[in-house]
Amino acid sequence: MIAYNHVLNTLKSQPKTWLVTGVAGFIGSNLLEHLLKLNQRVIGLDSFATGHQYNLDEVQGLVSAEQWAGFTFIEGDIRNLEDCQKACDGVDYVLHQAALGSVPRSINDPITTNATNISGFLNMLVAARDAEVKSFTYAASSSTYGDHPALPKVEENIGKPLSPYAVTKYVNELYADVFAKTYGFKTIGLRYFNVFGQRQDPNGAYAAVIPKWTASMIEGHDVFINGDGETSRDFCFIENTVQMNILAATAPEGVKNEVYNVAVGDRTTLNDLFHALQIALAENGKVYDMPAVYRDFRAGDVRHSQADISKAVSKLGYAPEYRIMDGIAKAMPWYIKNVG
Ligand SMILES: NC(=O)c1ccc[n+]([C@@H]2O[C@H](COP(=O)([O-])OP(=O)(O)OC[C@H]3O[C@@H](n4cnc5c(N)ncnc54)[C@H](O)[C@@H]3O)[C@@H](O)[C@H]2O)c1
Repeated sequence: MIAYNHVLNTLKSQPKTWLVTGVAGFIGSNLLEHLLKLNQRVIGLDSFATGHQYNLDEVQGLVSAEQWAGFTFIEGDIRNLEDCQKACDGVDYVLHQAALGSVPRSINDPITTNATNISGFLNMLVAARDAEVKSFTYAASSSTYGDHPALPKVEENIGKPLSPYAVTKYVNELYADVFAKTYGFKTIGLRYFNVFGQRQDPNGAYAAVIPKWTASMIEGHDVFINGDGETSRDFCFIENTVQMNILAATAPEGVKNEVYNVAVGDRTTLNDLFHALQIALAENGKVYDMPAVYRDFRAGDVRHSQADISKAVSKLGYAPEYRIMDGIAKAMPWYIKNVG
């Protein structure tokens, strides 16, 4: 936390201009909240493809009027270069989050995922390079580890992608590396491992497991486990992810043109997650005592995922504050208030 606290204090005394793409989404709106609370100037770009105005409204209610005045929203699409250029104008630090997430979505519609995640990413790289921003940090993904069997996952050892989504996130890394080599434009890629927390969308066919199950439990519906429940993930609370973005954006040149795992280094099975959510709900006065319903494994899913976070710890000073139970305890009241 020493490195992070130092960065936070510097930002407070010397505010910067940030661009957060995907600002109306889960991770983007949490970045916005933290940056405004640090009195930063923030430009947000979003097309509302999967993000929501109510996420922005919620952030407005969590910051002061003065802090909110530091926010400029641009409704635009990263598939449109002009929108990216407009958003990058005068920006110090770019946090590029806009993309179409979800492995199943990419299997159902690879063309739209490709256009957003690859062409949109390239537009953002070009626009940010031409605007001469101080840093460009982007959302990469643990899906890049693909079929590589080793655990924990170390940045250098990746396998073959298991879904169109994983292809797009790996292509981002390839483009980022080529931009460093050909234009000297060095970026940082953050390979997120199953981020969760408040404002992660519980609705729709492509919802992530924690918000989806939590909502089902609150509403008294069946919870479906794909496979035998022994599939495991390194669930990372949003506050850890925000910390990594801020550390990466402000990092020195020597640690750029790299990718870093963003996780905790833990491994939780879906069966254990199911019980953890039941416990957290009970602690908030809600009982869910129905058994989980098991069904087939889902196509494109990696069986086990766990990060080695030592590179982020040693090079960026990353110190995750929240393990899974801490994060679930913090997020649960939000779900109880907002679901149903
Ligand atoms: N949540 C996770 O566990 C996780 C894991 C790995 C990687 N990621 C990556 O993190 C980033 C943020 O994910 P999230 O969980 O906040 O998802 P999200 O869907 O909540 O947010 C993505 C945002 O991007 C916006 N967007 C999509 N297409 C756009 C376009 N063409 N132009 C402008 N805006 C567009 C959406 O409207 C949305 O607000 C994504 O790049 C995702 O691939 C997330």
